[in-house]
Amino acid sequence: MLMTTKPMFDLAYEGGFAVGAFNVNNMEITQGIIEACAAEKSPCILQISKGARKYANIRFLRHIIDACVEEYPDVPIAIHCDHGDTVELIRDCIEDGYTSVMIDGSHHSFEENIALTKEAVELAHAAGVVVEAELGMLGGIEEDVVGLDAEEYEKNIEQFLTDPKEAREFYDRTGIDSLAVAIGTSHGAFKFKSEAKLAFDRIEAIMKTCPGLPLVMHGSSSVPKEFIDLINTYGGDMPGTMGVPEEQISKAVRSYGVCKVNIDTDLRLAMTAKIREVFATKPAEFDPRNYLGPARDAIREMVKRKLHMLNSAGTADEVVRQWKKLGEPMPAYYGEKAGV
Ligand code: G3H
Ligand code: 13P
Ligand code: ZN
Repeated sequence: MLMTTKPMFDLAYEGGFAVGAFNVNNMEITQGIIEACAAEKSPCILQISKGARKYANIRFLRHIIDACVEEYPDVPIAIHCDHGDTVELIRDCIEDGYTSVMIDGSHHSFEENIALTKEAVELAHAAGVVVEAELGMLGGIEEDVVGLDAEEYEKNIEQFLTDPKEAREFYDRTGIDSLAVAIGTSHGAFKFKSEAKLAFDRIEAIMKTCPGLPLVMHGSSSVPKEFIDLINTYGGDMPGTMGVPEEQISKAVRSYGVCKVNIDTDLRLAMTAKIREVFATKPAEFDPRNYLGPARDAIREMVKRKLHMLNSAGTADEVVRQWKKLGEPMPAYYGEKAGV
């Protein structure tokens, strides 16, 4: 069932779980994610980056997601814009039927971030769409996502973390629904040079200045060694990878108001490892179904593992009840808008 993230976060904040936000780029990735959520009775956020819109064409992605909604009516699904950087993009996403958007002004000054975020909030709320914003800077660099080099990030980490007092002012002046915080996570597969340590004192301080505000963790892939080993065994070359340990993410989710956790890299690794394995062990294989099918299965298993880490397995029915209780109107539907 399509909905905003509001009922998910209402329950997650108090309930010691977080909703996994997984990036979708094509049919197999989306199917792997939704199959896992259906099997584990978990809500999910399907998030679409600017790069994904460009790669797949949003109309194709929307129809794939519509198929998920039809095929799995019991799974609470939110469609989210990941790292939206302009009001124009946010407007497009709202018109495309997203139920949630992120406006990422974290690379601007505090005042510019507030101004940009406020404009996005006014636009989105008028359409019944919820808004996530970001304060503080993450490490790591990915296509279309501004970030910091791992070494520079680790050396100067304190200055990039979210300031709890600023977070309160930002919340009051923008009216956001959730806040992505910099607490030591980083985007991509090459996050750190040494073992990651999340700044739990910082999340706790943000929770104190902003009680009740759902917090979001980006850059939360764990880059599991077994997948890097598979990739390298079957012809890949990915030395020096490093992720956020799953135990630290679990801890943040269970006790620190973290309601949404973004995971993309680990899905990419699962898919790549499986495709490499098929190509390396069956060099004569040329039917895409015989490598994309196993890759979809690998994504499903990776997502199941994440849903347990996030403690969201088994919460779907409760989220649906909460959505019905809120009785909020659905944001405009893509099909109606586009006249299809
Ligand atoms: O944090 C960013 C996501 O992993 C999306 O990456 O811009 O390469 O689609 P992308
Ligand atoms: P990872 O690169 O750690 O998977 O983070 C994804 C993300 O934050 C998407 O917004
Ligand atoms: Zn991100």
